[in-house]
Amino acid sequence: MYNKKPIADNIFYIGVNDRQKESFENYLPLPEGVTYNSYLIVDKKTTVIDTVDIAFADVFFAKIDAVLKGGTVDYLIVNHVEPDHAGSVGLFRQKYPNVIIVGNAKTFDMLNGYFGINTRLHEVKEGDSLSIGRRTLSFYMAPMVHWPEVMVTYEHQDKILFSADAFGTFGTLNGDYSDACINTEKYWNELRRYYACIVGKFGVPVQNALKKLAALEIKTVCSAHGPVWQKELTKVVSLYDKWSRYEEEEEGVVIAYGSMYGNTQQLTEAVAEGIVAGGIKNVVVHNVSKTDASFILSDIFKYKALIIGSPTYMDGLYPLIEKLLSAIEIRRIKNRLFSCFGSFTWTGTAVKKLTAFSQTMKWEMIGAPVENKHAVFEEKYQAAFELGLAMAEKLKSLRCS
Ligand code: FEO
Repeated sequence: MYNKKPIADNIFYIGVNDRQKESFENYLPLPEGVTYNSYLIVDKKTTVIDTVDIAFADVFFAKIDAVLKGGTVDYLIVNHVEPDHAGSVGLFRQKYPNVIIVGNAKTFDMLNGYFGINTRLHEVKEGDSLSIGRRTLSFYMAPMVHWPEVMVTYEHQDKILFSADAFGTFGTLNGDYSDACINTEKYWNELRRYYACIVGKFGVPVQNALKKLAALEIKTVCSAHGPVWQKELTKVVSLYDKWSRYEEEEEGVVIAYGSMYGNTQQLTEAVAEGIVAGGIKNVVVHNVSKTDASFILSDIFKYKALIIGSPTYMDGLYPLIEKLLSAIEIRRIKNRLFSCFGSFTWTGTAVKKLTAFSQTMKWEMIGAPVENKHAVFEEKYQAAFELGLAMAEKLKSLRCS
């Protein structure tokens, strides 16, 4: 039987681990898996907050049955309609035909579109409250964190925020849902990768949501993915605040490069050596042909400096570099220090395109971009080393400023 340890009196975790899925949204790797979280509040009106991916509906309903022992559910609150959370709403209505679904006008438009559900609805607006007996729930809109209908639900008595995708992370729960009971080390990189890939485009809406939530006293965050945050709550909120302002976590440089025959890679080595010789220890090097872009994006959110190397390919950028630039541009990542380098055989285009990209992003160009023709000899190796040095000097100039 599953772990029925309550989060608070009569509030239960009824989410599931997905250890099978290879890719979230069918493109983001899940080396540590993912959870779909749902919560059950037993009160005068029994209430469930969000459902789970439909592939896990049987496990989900079994967990509800284990607590309610044949009892019914009065309210289903839908904080977010994306199918990883609302995928089982149609089945939920079949199992509990009298359940009243709580959401906002946008929620209901989507539920009608996905499930044809348009009856027994309770619409809430910003700040509305709902008494479910001993407990009262209030609702706050959080549009674009991550879809336009997203809202969060606040439980007043134990000061619990049910936060939808916000503060969520990739990574299964191994043995317990509480961040106080499990080693949370594996989540920090995955929390950032989740943020960068899923919410990273929406920095302004996240800031708006954080300002709104600052007015609430919150002791526990029950997100839609990953641990229930209590012990690490301050850290998690602080990271979200930083990322949504596009501020770096720590000093360091990401080098992302593509290379077909090793010349651009040689320049990469020279740039990295220059950075370290200049006094910066954190240098993360990603070969775009080996590392999925989601991990590179995550590191770009972590560090302030980004240097990209690309060979010229068909008079353009190396395809996987082009894909990375698109992912960066979509997320409107701001305030980065940038530089670039590349190599070519008969026409040099990559460095021009990378330079134009930095202008589009309004990033500060550091050092002189290096463009190499044919094999890499001492002069260009040295130029790439100098580029790395220049980036290190710039980063050091920002210390304690
Ligand atoms: Fe976890 Fe936007 O769904």
